[in-house]
Amino acid sequence: MKIAFVSSEVEPYAKTGGLADVAGSLPIALEKLGCEVKVFMPKYFQINEDKYELHFSWDIGEMLIGVAGHTRSAHLHQATLPNSNVQINFIDCPHYYHRGHIYTNDRDEDERFILLCKGVIETLQRMKWVPDIIHCNDWQTGLLLLFIKDNYGWDRMFDKTAFLFTIHNIGYQGRFPKDTMFKAELKGDYFYPGGPVELDGTVCFMKAGILFSEIISTVSKTYANEIITPEYGAGMNNVLLTRKNDLYGIINGVDYSIWNPETDKLIPFRYSSNYLTGKLKNKKFLLEHANLPFDENVPLIGIVSRMVTQKGFDIFADAIGNLVNLPAQWAILGSGEDRFEDLFLNMTHHLPGKVFTYIGYNNELAHLIEAASDILLMPSRYEPCGLNQIYSLKYGTVPIVRKTGGLADTVHDWHEYLGNGEETGTGFSFNDYSSYALYTTVERAMRTFYDKETWRKIQRNGMAKNYSWDKSAKEYIELYKKAIEKRR
Ligand code: ADP
Ligand code: GLC
Repeated sequence: MKIAFVSSEVEPYAKTGGLADVAGSLPIALEKLGCEVKVFMPKYFQINEDKYELHFSWDIGEMLIGVAGHTRSAHLHQATLPNSNVQINFIDCPHYYHRGHIYTNDRDEDERFILLCKGVIETLQRMKWVPDIIHCNDWQTGLLLLFIKDNYGWDRMFDKTAFLFTIHNIGYQGRFPKDTMFKAELKGDYFYPGGPVELDGTVCFMKAGILFSEIISTVSKTYANEIITPEYGAGMNNVLLTRKNDLYGIINGVDYSIWNPETDKLIPFRYSSNYLTGKLKNKKFLLEHANLPFDENVPLIGIVSRMVTQKGFDIFADAIGNLVNLPAQWAILGSGEDRFEDLFLNMTHHLPGKVFTYIGYNNELAHLIEAASDILLMPSRYEPCGLNQIYSLKYGTVPIVRKTGGLADTVHDWHEYLGNGEETGTGFSFNDYSSYALYTTVERAMRTFYDKETWRKIQRNGMAKNYSWDKSAKEYIELYKKAIEKRR
């Protein structure tokens, strides 16, 4: 099976969140199952050409692409995803991609991803490589299918190609003012009330992706059920309801060659479920480097997250007066909205000896916090899948999560499962999106922490879990087959 996989971020080249982890690892898992996969992404200025051995593709040459009434010149660079034979194709257009950040608030943000979509189509044409599936991810790729049907409708090469559109986060839909339609240079009229790219008077890239794909998926079963409700649908629930029979949830896998405490090269001390002393050494290392006192009986609670409303930091802020009185230490890594960054910086300032905060992006520190912490906190308002809680299970770092989306599907509450007579819990969770539920759950976890035997059991239950791609990649292949069948 030939698969073109399109994503606006791919690990290790450019990453702001979990989409990059998925785009950097699922294609490799698919290749291992016998698929031929080519990945496509923009060639951002930030990508290190030498380090990742990018080479210019003379075969493809110059591509002239119409966007917003201009003809833009684009080229292709190629490389191979590390530890695989998967080809990665970088669409190069300095006018759009040489910016300070991967995503921007610039007025031509829509144009940047219109160019990506058209660039992928032009590249496939020049390669003469006909994919069985084009797997699009998130709003940045939402118009690709429409371009194939409209601007490139003359080219029969895609006649048998089927489309899968994966929603990684319904909170980001690619909504723009009406003049985006002009910028896209589509021939047909798709923008009218209720039309395929119209949502509440805006142009919506994600809506097109949802409506034109054979199959739609999202990154956990619970989230697939949630996004068709008004509470979680972010205005897209009615659109999704029209495609309910074609909507599936597949939990993300993780790459254990990168996230495994037994082999992780980014942490100072490696360990396993039989050697948890190594984990304690990482805790000591982190605390010493953060100039915080080390006491093995004081739990260290880690947070590694984009600091945005999605992640539940408003209930955290409401609970903070109580949380800081608990005998715990905190290791916090992330960046995002000022109000949350300030909250954590203030917490550090006012609680000497208790809190370490790093505002910014730091992959090595993300690994160290996973390894060093006793607990990982993810109180998300919504969470399509979430990867950090899955990493933390493997690192013996007991997750406390709100029971939503992928968090509900991957973390089993210790006490809830005890109620079934089973000692199979892997963490702690709460239902209500409230500061009270958050606080009492942290407190409940802390009480359990002092019962060393039970805590070890919870850690080992989590460490024994396997969320590698093996199973989920097979589920994707089944979806691809369904999409191909539908197309025919
Ligand atoms: P989301 O994609 O919504 O941000 P996920 O849990 O799926 O949430 O994925 C987040 C990914 O980004 C994880 O790999 C996590 O380690 C990483 N990450 C988040 N914030 C930072 C940061 N400040 N520094 C380094 N890595 C981060
Ligand atoms: C999104 C979601 C996150 C998910 C990731 C990868 O960024 O917020 O929950 O794990 O995509 O699918």
